Amino acid sequence: METRTKDTVSGNIIDEIIARHRGKPGMLLTTLEEVQEQNQFKYLPGETLAEIAGKLKIPYTQVYSVATFYSYFNLKPQGKHAIVVCRGTACHTKGSKALLDDIAANLGIHRDDNDTDSSYTTPDNLFTIRTVACFGQCAQSPVVEVDGVIHSNVNSRKLQTMLHRVRGEETKKEISYATV
Ligand code: FES
Repeated sequence: METRTKDTVSGNIIDEIIARHRGKPGMLLTTLEEVQEQNQFKYLPGETLAEIAGKLKIPYTQVYSVATFYSYFNLKPQGKHAIVVCRGTACHTKGSKALLDDIAANLGIHRDDNDTDSSYTTPDNLFTIRTVACFGQCAQSPVVEVDGVIHSNVNSRKLQTMLHRVRGEETKKEISYATV
């Protein structure tokens, strides 16, 4: 019998994704991308990587190398909302470290600057904060991405407004679920 944690994607879905891309250029990347999308916490657990390797008959190390090379792929569960702070030189010069510290404090996340892990998720899985080396928009630094939307020239006040808006939307959803 198949034993799975609730946050892994089923073998049938992986089979279906592989079947759609088999033989096409970049199929491993596309497969990983779609399987991650299917995961409710938007990540690729080790057992999923192993399953993909087995189904594609390629070494696990090859799949793991691809998953760790591209920053798009997550090896840890992600929060519902993703906040990505640019830590490139231009953004750093314009205060991105302080913004990152502000976000972490606001969300109650304890970051360790010496920790090489650049992704942190709140215990309620609502927010993940992570960093990126450069968004390629250095002229508008500092740059922060919230749920896929790039915000430029971010300052502390703008940041508070963004977090407040995301939290407000979540509260509204909770209220509407409670009244259904
Ligand atoms: S350094 Fe931040 S966008 Fe380039």
